[in-house]
Amino acid sequence: MAMASAKLNTLSSHWIAHTTFSPRSRSSPRRVSLPIRASYENELVQTAKSIATPGRGILAIDESNATCGKRLASIGLDNTEVNRQAYRQLLLTTPGLGEYISGAILFEETLYQSTTDGKKFVDCLRDENIVPGIKVDKGLVPLPGSNNESWCQGLDGLASRSAEYYKQGARFAKWRTVVSIPCGPSALAVKEAAWGLARYAAISQDNGLVPIVEPEILLDGDHPIERTLEVAEKVWSEVFFYLAENNVIFEGILLKPSMVTPGAEHKEKASPETIAKYTLTMLRRRVPPAVPGIMFLSGGQSEVEATLNLNAMNQSPNPWHVSFSYARALQNTVLKTWQGHPENVEAAQKSLLVRAKANSLAQLGRYSAEGESEEAKKGMFVKGYTY
Ligand code: 13P
Repeated sequence: MAMASAKLNTLSSHWIAHTTFSPRSRSSPRRVSLPIRASYENELVQTAKSIATPGRGILAIDESNATCGKRLASIGLDNTEVNRQAYRQLLLTTPGLGEYISGAILFEETLYQSTTDGKKFVDCLRDENIVPGIKVDKGLVPLPGSNNESWCQGLDGLASRSAEYYKQGARFAKWRTVVSIPCGPSALAVKEAAWGLARYAAISQDNGLVPIVEPEILLDGDHPIERTLEVAEKVWSEVFFYLAENNVIFEGILLKPSMVTPGAEHKEKASPETIAKYTLTMLRRRVPPAVPGIMFLSGGQSEVEATLNLNAMNQSPNPWHVSFSYARALQNTVLKTWQGHPENVEAAQKSLLVRAKANSLAQLGRYSAEGESEEAKKGMFVKGYTY
């Protein structure tokens, strides 16, 4: 598909006749129309490539207002627009951030917000060569007919919202749905998660946004690592099946998987080497090499754990750029250092750079946990966590 589409990029039409074979008469070719994303294809591929550059990863700060409120409450701040702006300003104006960070996922409020001096946050990012991204899903709700599982809303009006986000400077998008191992997962929940992600990915690409595909397999549960591997393989096979069915361009997507670990309440913890082995096994079995980047979520691991696991996965070459798209594992020490005091902003920005650099080294397979703070080693798993 990529080759055919590349040749046709100069055409103004979004539709092109492809030759295929009729199921009834295998020998006689007939013409059918398939959609191509002619106007954005090159740009999507370039955007994805520029995010997946060596030694860089994604800073995820796309917490909804409710979740950002939880972060602020942890340091005794009220959940006001002014406090959210102050926190995002601290993060997005960190000098030198672009050395380690290639993309930042924003919540809608932040995409349209400016610093207190009136500079748009998207311009702060561009000045650091960081691509602005946007969370486009509308969150999780109960999935009727399932085993207490959920599905992700947000497809209604997504095309027009995406076009607006593009105008505002966003170049990639994120849609997070979840799969729960203790709840089954049921075949219905897996299918719904995969189909929703595929529809979102196709709509994003039609509007110039590189979709981050994120079926988060939650850490909850007391199952062994083998069970996580089994579920992850099932989930990713369905996701790729429906991505293909929806004519999504694999070269213009990024993935955001959970690492394959034992359940958070399993009796034994796994070493970074074991987690790397299982996670890479799953990826090699399920993810085509056309996909440019795998940007892991941290999912409640401690900052140091998430970095060690990423480092272990980069000890030998991979077919894709294997990197990070952490929220909690990049923000924990920053928040604790800041405490909402203007005089702590510089120190908090330095602590963000420490984490970003550690993960940059881990992306290159050169990280050592020597000298890491006790705070960075604290786990952040919360049972039944909602993002
Ligand atoms: P965590 O790294 O906190 O799991 O973030 C997940 C996420 O989807 C943020 O965009």
